[in-house]
Amino acid sequence: MQAPQRLVNLLPSSMRSQVDSWFETLEIFTEIRDPRVLRALGPAGVRGLLLKRGKQGTPTEMPAKHSAYFDWTYPSDQPEMAELYRRAKTGQWNADTDLPWHVDVDPLNPEVPLLPENFIDFSGLDAKGIHLDAEEKLKLRYSLCAWMLSQFLHGEQGALFAAAQVTEAVQFFDGKLYGATQVMDEGRHVEAFSRYLDEKLNRLYQINDNLFVIVDSLMGDGRWDMKFLGMQIMVEGLALGAFSTLYQETQEPLLKYLLRMVIQDEARHVHYGVVALREHINHHLSESERQEREDWAYEVALLMRNRFMAYEVYEEWFEGRLSRADWRTFVMQAPGMQRFRRVMFSRLVPNLREIGLLSPRIMPHYERVGLAQYFDGASADELTAEQLISGLDGTAPPTAIAAE
Ligand SMILES: [Fe+2]
Ligand SMILES: [Fe+2]
Repeated sequence: MQAPQRLVNLLPSSMRSQVDSWFETLEIFTEIRDPRVLRALGPAGVRGLLLKRGKQGTPTEMPAKHSAYFDWTYPSDQPEMAELYRRAKTGQWNADTDLPWHVDVDPLNPEVPLLPENFIDFSGLDAKGIHLDAEEKLKLRYSLCAWMLSQFLHGEQGALFAAAQVTEAVQFFDGKLYGATQVMDEGRHVEAFSRYLDEKLNRLYQINDNLFVIVDSLMGDGRWDMKFLGMQIMVEGLALGAFSTLYQETQEPLLKYLLRMVIQDEARHVHYGVVALREHINHHLSESERQEREDWAYEVALLMRNRFMAYEVYEEWFEGRLSRADWRTFVMQAPGMQRFRRVMFSRLVPNLREIGLLSPRIMPHYERVGLAQYFDGASADELTAEQLISGLDGTAPPTAIAAE
């Protein structure tokens, strides 16, 4: 349900964006077919999309209500998780000393662009009478890159808390030990992205409303597997797609190095999510509970596919000069964003298949939105971090710019 454009155009310009955003919220809620999914996402949707809780400039308190699961016998119960735990311990790195922070970053240097020129197709703006000169184009790409990295950072804060909650709530003991390493990993990711934005880009955008909804709904859901599905599979899958795309696209060496280190950790996190959920969904849930998760994953996949529209950049640059609807079209058609969606779904869909959430019942829905091409891809447990990265650039580790 798009806002009827003729109706919106009759409104004073100060109201147009607001009405468009209300219609968009309505569209999200009316698209959800499973009432259980609506119950799980609805309250977070109201807080994020209507009340804009993430944008009030104050800390947010989200009640958590999961049970902590203790086992006083300390079983070795999941060899694959135990192996991940061992790999995680030896794969630790120090964001302070292992990254080349000495690299000078000039976000407006056309010789070392944060995002390549072909990330955006500016003819879409020209067609609407907005002509940017070379410097403004560079600045817009700088804004978009800082916006993406800000969302990564906010997502990492969510991942840090979710990893801590899941470590308490999960029933696999080897999973708890592994979880402790992930909490550390996510803390390091928060540190690294936050420092890069602060020291090198001097920018921080507010959390995107859709990301807020996903994080909010996961924090308050008492079921550990929903936190897992949301954070380890969906948000981490999204992050891995986004990190991989940006890793391929950016020429800024410090950012490239930082992303490479983070991707190695994230590959482990998604692998853990696949192992834990494959066991749980296939052996511990009823068919009705499985279907609820299958529907939930599909709705969140759509939420992520359609809704990350960088409105925070739109408000900074174009509000009053370009309609929100035209901005959406512009972002959807940006070649870099298309590449980003392709990588994201090529990672996400095979993982859903692997954990049992891509049954013939839901497949036609994925086919309808053009995602069937990813059904047969490799899932996270079949890919090592090195394969993942060499698949991105086919090169050896960038030791040439290792930290001083
Ligand atoms: Fe992370
Ligand atoms: Fe992670």
